Amino acid sequence: MCGIIGYTGQRPAGQIILDGLRRLEYRGYDSAGIALFDANHELYVARAAGKIDNLISKIEGSLPPAVSGIGHTRWATHGAATDLNAHPHLDPAGRVAVVHNGIIENFEALRRPFVERGLAFSSDTDTEVLAFLIADEIQAGVDLARAVQNVVAQTQGAAAVVAICCDEPGRIVAARVGNAGGIVIGHGDGERFVASDLAALLPHTRRVTFLEPGEVADIRPDEVTYYDTAGHVLAKPVETQPWDPVAAVKGRYKHFMLKEIHEQPDTALDSVRGRYLTAPHRVEVEDLPFTAEQVRDFNRVVLIGMGTSMHAAMVGRHYLERYARLPAEVDNAAEFRYRSPVLDPRTLVISVAQSGETIDTLAAMDEARRAGCPQITICNTPGAQTTRIADATVYMRAGPEIAVASTKTLVGSMIALHALGLHLGRLRGALDAETSRRQVEGALHLPAAIGETLLLEPRVAELAARYAAYEDFLFLGRGLSYPMALEGALKLKEVSYIHAEGYAAGEMKHGPIALIDERMPTVAIALRDEVRDKMRSNIEQVKARRGRVIAIVSADDVSLDGIADDVLRLPEVEPDLSPVLTAVVMQLLSYEIAVERGADVDQPRNLAKTVTVE
Ligand code: G6P
Repeated sequence: MCGIIGYTGQRPAGQIILDGLRRLEYRGYDSAGIALFDANHELYVARAAGKIDNLISKIEGSLPPAVSGIGHTRWATHGAATDLNAHPHLDPAGRVAVVHNGIIENFEALRRPFVERGLAFSSDTDTEVLAFLIADEIQAGVDLARAVQNVVAQTQGAAAVVAICCDEPGRIVAARVGNAGGIVIGHGDGERFVASDLAALLPHTRRVTFLEPGEVADIRPDEVTYYDTAGHVLAKPVETQPWDPVAAVKGRYKHFMLKEIHEQPDTALDSVRGRYLTAPHRVEVEDLPFTAEQVRDFNRVVLIGMGTSMHAAMVGRHYLERYARLPAEVDNAAEFRYRSPVLDPRTLVISVAQSGETIDTLAAMDEARRAGCPQITICNTPGAQTTRIADATVYMRAGPEIAVASTKTLVGSMIALHALGLHLGRLRGALDAETSRRQVEGALHLPAAIGETLLLEPRVAELAARYAAYEDFLFLGRGLSYPMALEGALKLKEVSYIHAEGYAAGEMKHGPIALIDERMPTVAIALRDEVRDKMRSNIEQVKARRGRVIAIVSADDVSLDGIADDVLRLPEVEPDLSPVLTAVVMQLLSYEIAVERGADVDQPRNLAKTVTVE
């Protein structure tokens, strides 16, 4: 939520910041803004509501030569998406500029003394007061880094704050407060970058340092000094990130979402590589710090996540139960943390979060940490906050995902959870050789099977053209396909703004069936598994009420031809891994419908990729 980028060095800062904002736009696109020091060390500020293109047309060649500055792309929390509420925000004298991600809960109380002094705020944001406060500190002779630290210490809530001041062009100070919004510093040759996430830095450097909550970075072109909450200087390592910058470019695809859907054979290949072994067939998940004895001692698993990651966790529950014979439950992280959950040191907590920064997931993990639970996180972002809280990280290995709607990270997380279930199952002595063999072979076949699934695209596009005008959809599934029914509905809502409900098919008779008529199509996942016949009955029930049905069926299953209106046949796959292929079809369907309706696929209204507010 909200993208931040800053640069200090010798190169043209304006262009570097605008390019960075483009790469960060998926984090929020309610407005964008930039603050630079021009040749006279005066602040040049430009801000515009809407997407970055609006900012660029507003600037229209007026970008001053500058060697440092900051930029921001906003996902609105306080105040509408207007020019005035766009960041950066300034103090009344226009000497301090601030960008911010997160929420300052006590901003009204912080504003009050300024209002009493007769000073006016020009925005409705919770951010602007930070610039006022920092300017006051500087006026009183406090150094910029200390000023930022003093100001964030007065704030309640969690935030990432980046500030610059006219007195010292070339210097940028960044602070991270609590879990909302990461800050990563990029190290170049005689230049430094700061950003809310890695994607913006990858074209420039892979040498980075992540700030922990409470830390401050004082950034100059040739050096960065870090401080802890108490103001003591900290030594922090420079890490080298493996991500390929080219992966964050759209290439020949019309949208990032389509590109990322098509990258999934590679995601699967990377996810199985080195984990699924043959001769003998076994699964090894890297870097788990638990001994076999500890793993045998776990008596329960709680899986948590939000959005698509929660749907992955729901699939993961089946794997943990099936292979590791551990009682497993799944919860939405935001509900979990307020439920006074019963946890103890034998409860394994597995969190799933592609960004690794979702505030509700972080808060739930903090709760689990307080209870002494061993924790594994499934994450896609190297160095993200979840990876720092958990005892171990199993990476999704999906590479940068830019489209706001998650696609390849879902596939990466389901495979990671499959591997984890099998790995823990082996350590617990709960897994037989035949299951192990079947699952390893099934997983190794996934890249090819996903590739084959993608060949359905023209057929899905043809269906999309026929179904795009409906305003309501029902998605039904059972067992492992139930989370994919939820995911199908979520994807459709996210990218095409169509109302869609995902249901466990058994629940259909208890309410949703009342909605069914010829205006509400049903997407039914009816794969050949132990619940296929029950799904068939559900489909008959929909048909009996004049509902249209798109059935997703197994490779050579013709039993629903002539019953369902349309049939999409998945390639052959190990049944336990079928959610991976179903997910791909659901993604194609929602993508093609959204394109058909002319929706903004990569940046759907109101959404953001990383949700750092509660
Ligand atoms: C946002 C994104 C979703 C994502 C969810 C959870 O809503 O738009 O695509 O599934 O956050 O994100 P996480 O980073 O925790 O997986």
